[in-house]
Amino acid sequence: MVAPTSDLAAAVAPATGRMAAVQDMARLLRLLFEAEREFVRTATTLICRVGEPELKYLLCQHVWESAGHARFLRERGRELAGFGNGESVRPALRRLFAEAAAPADADVALAGFYGVLKPALLSAYRHYLRVTDPLADWPSQRLVAEFVADEERHAREMARHLGRADAGSWEVQLATAVAALGGLLGESAPRPLPPGFAWRQESAPYRHPDTCNRAPYPVCASVFGHDPAAVPIVRPWLTDPRTDARVIRIMVYVWLLMEMDAVDYLSTVFWDTPDAPFDLHHDLARHLWDESRHSQFGFRQLPKLGVDLMTVEHSLDLYVILVRMAPHERYAMMTMEFEAGSFPTKAAVMDRIRELNDFEADTLLAFDRNDEQNHVRYGHRWLPEMMALFGETRPVEEFVRATQEKFRALAEEVGGRTPHGLPPERRLTGDRILRLATDR
Ligand SMILES: [Fe+2]
Ligand SMILES: [Fe+2]
Repeated sequence: MVAPTSDLAAAVAPATGRMAAVQDMARLLRLLFEAEREFVRTATTLICRVGEPELKYLLCQHVWESAGHARFLRERGRELAGFGNGESVRPALRRLFAEAAAPADADVALAGFYGVLKPALLSAYRHYLRVTDPLADWPSQRLVAEFVADEERHAREMARHLGRADAGSWEVQLATAVAALGGLLGESAPRPLPPGFAWRQESAPYRHPDTCNRAPYPVCASVFGHDPAAVPIVRPWLTDPRTDARVIRIMVYVWLLMEMDAVDYLSTVFWDTPDAPFDLHHDLARHLWDESRHSQFGFRQLPKLGVDLMTVEHSLDLYVILVRMAPHERYAMMTMEFEAGSFPTKAAVMDRIRELNDFEADTLLAFDRNDEQNHVRYGHRWLPEMMALFGETRPVEEFVRATQEKFRALAEEVGGRTPHGLPPERRLTGDRILRLATDR
């Protein structure tokens, strides 16, 4: 076992020699980079576990901003002697963040991340501002001052989601682990772990839940189908030229809201790829935030069109099936099948919606399409690297075909099992959308 204190203490022991002043700052930037990238890898485990859409969206936004911090820290760090090669996270930090993910109760885990680790990160950034030279190290100072403002805003934005669980003893546990490191930058004297301290991750490490949380919303297996009395997105209606464009508009907003599926299953991939290059996690974080915005398109627009969100069931099948597959298989299905395959239908839908002269709808769909094109590009860029991480040596096309087969078989086995949370007369269905949209 690696002693956590020795790691950080060694990292921040003052350098000697001609470039010591630069090396000292570069080592701090390196620790900040590692802390931010590990936050991205581990805080993503909260997303599928919390239920409220607005909390999921906020976490996706914070994860994306943290990935941005890490990238800027790395770029600046590489300008300085002593930042070090490679991008790996030292074991002491990895263990601290893995500990934060461990609680089975999502509200307790959230309290640990936002009540202990984020404040530790904020005080580490403030420490950096105090110890660096404002003129010599102006480039870093500018970045760090911006990150301090971001961290303060993150705390304000998260405040209303905290305090739902009695997390006091858990916060003490994590704070003890932080104190043993002497803070994230070794900025205070390390306080050794007390006798009897037990890492939660050693007895009960984090694992992805078998199904994702969408409380307080009702759930179902899938929102797509052919029966307008049963599901909201009636596949043949989407492309039937006789369908009223107002009906298509509501159906596509339900479709967008359900991109929450992508939020929940994509968020699981970070934890499963601890040795991925940072740029892979950076692009996954962007992908995740994009999907959360697409879902928000539906979440915000549906009520304006008269839809009560409590009547919209959330589909769980994709998460339930994909979480049982390997991470690179999840990512292959997402980018090479669901996203790459969605363009023709979405194009037809966009053309129909343009009949409505609804500038907002046209705008949301245009940005959605642009984002999705980027996601398929990410897939081409990163799937081969992710396959390599898992020792997959087949050509990409062969692997994707085999994965599609595996998905179909698993869908037979575990798909379609989530019962409807609402009876047909209380849930949003194609028939109900038709009445709502056309006052019939
Ligand atoms: Fe999307
Ligand atoms: Fe996407």
